[in-house]
Amino acid sequence: MILIDGKQTAEDIRLEIAREVASMIDKGIKAPHLAAVIVGEDPASQTYVASKEKQAKAAGFTSTVYRLPAATTEQELLGVIDFLNDDPDVDGYIVQLPLPGHINSNTVLQAVAPEKDVDGFHPVNVGRMALGLPCYVPATPHGIMELLRRYQVETTGKKCVVLGRSHIVGSPVSILMSQKGTPGDATVTLCHSKTAGLAQIAAEADILIAAIGKPGFVTADMVKEGAVVIDVGIHRIEAPDTKSGFRLVGDVDFEAVAKKASMITPVPGGVGPMTIASLLQNTLKAAKKEIYG
Ligand code: GUN
Repeated sequence: MILIDGKQTAEDIRLEIAREVASMIDKGIKAPHLAAVIVGEDPASQTYVASKEKQAKAAGFTSTVYRLPAATTEQELLGVIDFLNDDPDVDGYIVQLPLPGHINSNTVLQAVAPEKDVDGFHPVNVGRMALGLPCYVPATPHGIMELLRRYQVETTGKKCVVLGRSHIVGSPVSILMSQKGTPGDATVTLCHSKTAGLAQIAAEADILIAAIGKPGFVTADMVKEGAVVIDVGIHRIEAPDTKSGFRLVGDVDFEAVAKKASMITPVPGGVGPMTIASLLQNTLKAAKKEIYG
């Protein structure tokens, strides 16, 4: 069994990016600039944005964070978005989700200029992805594809089962896996909460991608011997036996499934660390105007 090491892979990617940024700066090209907008005090979002900022800086990027109070109106936020769309120094930016309830996330995400939408959430980028055109692929599906590529997982003609149909993971990864290319060219089944016979379908997968948001949902009987298992879940569960009193687990019952899988991502240290690396990759593409010219 091969453990797919997302932490190491993300570090490798950050180093590759840092080298490229250093050579850009040597040539007199400005450093890529990633901005982030965060509204309110959600602790998980604060941690996530702080981590993005730290890693962006470590890669040699310029990083700016706009921290706005929870009471910010939608109009005010749209004003910040207009400002970032127009700022020629900002190559790409993200609006951290979730936004407070009084703000319509769709309105906000659609105001982001597609060429600066390094999260890949704007309908133009989603549409371009679905059509197989150059675009910013959202961080999690991008990270999954990168792990499959770097671990040289054979996907051509393989049965890939995706569990979960979210707009940010299940749906895009199912599209990418079915598209022409490497990784890709797989025969994809997308399962969700209304799927009949989900366990039997999962058990036929050569590649099983679990993004269903339920701790330990994928048990050993749902996994084929030799399957590649990608666990996108991350859940904090109580664990009185640990010092902190909690433990992070994925959507997969790791202990049992690891005995059957040929490759598996751990939680933590699998898909999670890849997301920020993906965001940096997208921002570098934005700085180089690779997608929109
Ligand atoms: N909240 C949780 N994950 C993400 C992400 O990838 N992008 C943004 N903007 N918000 C998030």
